[in-house]
Amino acid sequence: MNRFTKYVSSQFKNPRGFGGVIISIIQNVLNRAMYNDAATIVSLKHDDRVLDIGYGNGYLLQILYKKQVVDLYGIDISDDAKKMATKKNKKAFRDNHLHLSVGDCCSLPYEESTFDAVTSINTIYFWNDTVKGLSEIRRTLKNGKSFYNIVYTKEYLDTIKYTQIGYKKFELNELKEYGKQAGFENVETKKIMNGKGFVVIYTK
Ligand SMILES: C[S@@+](CC[C@H](N)C(=O)[O-])C[C@H]1O[C@@H](n2cnc3c(N)ncnc32)[C@H](O)[C@@H]1O
Repeated sequence: MNRFTKYVSSQFKNPRGFGGVIISIIQNVLNRAMYNDAATIVSLKHDDRVLDIGYGNGYLLQILYKKQVVDLYGIDISDDAKKMATKKNKKAFRDNHLHLSVGDCCSLPYEESTFDAVTSINTIYFWNDTVKGLSEIRRTLKNGKSFYNIVYTKEYLDTIKYTQIGYKKFELNELKEYGKQAGFENVETKKIMNGKGFVVIYTK
C-alpha cells in the first residue's frame, strides 16, 4: 500500500489540517447518495434532541438543521472536525441550536436518557471498542428511541483501496449481534443505495 493511500485512510479516521478539510469535502461529494437516503429513513421531529457521532465537517448536521431539527449535538474525536463543522453550521451554532464536543463515543459526556435519536455515518469502522460505543449510545438514548448507524457493506468497502487499512469492516449479522450485546431491545436494518450500504436501527 502506498503512502498516499495510507494518508487518505488516516484522514478519514481522524481529519486534521488542510488535508482533512479537502478529504472531508471529497467525502461529502462521494457520499451524497448516502446522506440523502439516510435522511429519508431517520425519522425526527422539530424539537427532538439529536446527537451525531463522528460529525466530520458537519454535513449531516447541516442537512438536519435545514429539515428544521433545532436541538442538535455532535461529538467527534478530531479538534479540526469541530472547527470545520462549526464553520459549516454557523447559523445553527450562533442561534444555540448546535452543541459540538470533541471526544470519543466510547465515553460520552452526556447524562443517561438525553437523546431522542442518535445518528452516525461511516464512523463505527474506527471505534476502539464497538460494544462499548454502542452501550454508551444506548445509555444516552431515551427509552424507545433509536440509534441510526449508517454504513457501507463489507463487500463494498472491500472494493475500495483506502479502506484496506485502519477500517473495521462489519458483516450485517455482526452489527446486529453487537447491538444485542450492548443491550438494545430491537435491531432492524434497511438497505440504502441499491444495497451498497445499510442503516442499522438500534432501538432501546
Ligand atoms: C469517515 S469520517 C465521517 C464523517 C461524517 N460522519 C460524514 O459522513 O461526513 C469519520 C469521522 O469519525 C470520527 N471518529 C472516529 N473515531 C471516533 C470515535 N471513537 N468517536 C467519535 N468520533 C470518531 C473522525 O474524527 C471522523 O470525523
